[in-house]
Amino acid sequence: MELKYVTYEKRDSVALVTLNRPEKLNALNRELLQDLLRALELAERDPSVRVVVITGSGRAFCAGADVAEFAKSAHEVKNFIELGRRVLEYVESMSKPVIAAVNGYALGGGFELALSCDFIVASSNSFFGATEINLGIVPGWGATQKLLASAGLAKAREIVMLGEMFSADEALKLGIVSRVVPAEKLIEEALALGGKLSQKSPVALSIAKSVFSGASRSILGPGFEIEKSMFFVAISSEDAREGISAFLERRKPRWQL
Ligand code: COA
Repeated sequence: MELKYVTYEKRDSVALVTLNRPEKLNALNRELLQDLLRALELAERDPSVRVVVITGSGRAFCAGADVAEFAKSAHEVKNFIELGRRVLEYVESMSKPVIAAVNGYALGGGFELALSCDFIVASSNSFFGATEINLGIVPGWGATQKLLASAGLAKAREIVMLGEMFSADEALKLGIVSRVVPAEKLIEEALALGGKLSQKSPVALSIAKSVFSGASRSILGPGFEIEKSMFFVAISSEDAREGISAFLERRKPRWQL
């Protein structure tokens, strides 16, 4: 299969899917999202694959949605957001456990991609953040609700409304990641976790996964809908236009008063 922005390898029973657009810190553009979906579908269909690991090449796991996608027409932005949501929901609905092996930055939509995985193994030098506020927008792929559930209201507000990056150790303390490992051992540790999971009953694993995703949807579902509609309110604002232009022009945004 021809994939431009993602590499796909089999390591025993684990499929290793690597976001491969390092010059843009693996920012998610339309093509990368499509490639990621195709790689995940391949892993899902292959009975010899029991677990999937997603990681990033270079110095980031993923620096979020490609901001250039937000500078397109309203129709294109809507399609892009829907595509991203489809990919993240696919991760959640797969019958196999998915592990995010987070190296470097996991920001914005990249953080949300990690949050859609069943496990996050973070390298000790990784950084997380829901940084959308700095662009004059808000998360739209589930981060507000998932953070509310894992880190609690006070911290979720702080993470989303301040938009600051925080360390892997902080993410561990907040219950956002399941383990922090030395950077040079990240893939080894993620594959070892994958190997352990591969020893379990695939049927029971898949049921356990759907219990968590089903329960999370039933608890957080209404919040996901609010987040989704408010994302589109935010992205249509003057401040979003300014924040996105400022990022692309590498300058500080000037917000409306
Ligand atoms: N969308 C598009 N391009 C992005 C990107 C994104 N989300 N994140 C990084 N890039 C690009 C940069 O524009 C740059 O491209 P260029 O070399 O062609 O100019 C390249 O990736 C490297 O990033 P750079 O900013 O030069 O690296 P840095 O080490 O100085 O900073 C970050 C790293 C992660 C702090 C910074 O890139 C950043 O803040 N990115 C945006 C993160 C974000 O807000 N994501 C949420 C989007 S909704």
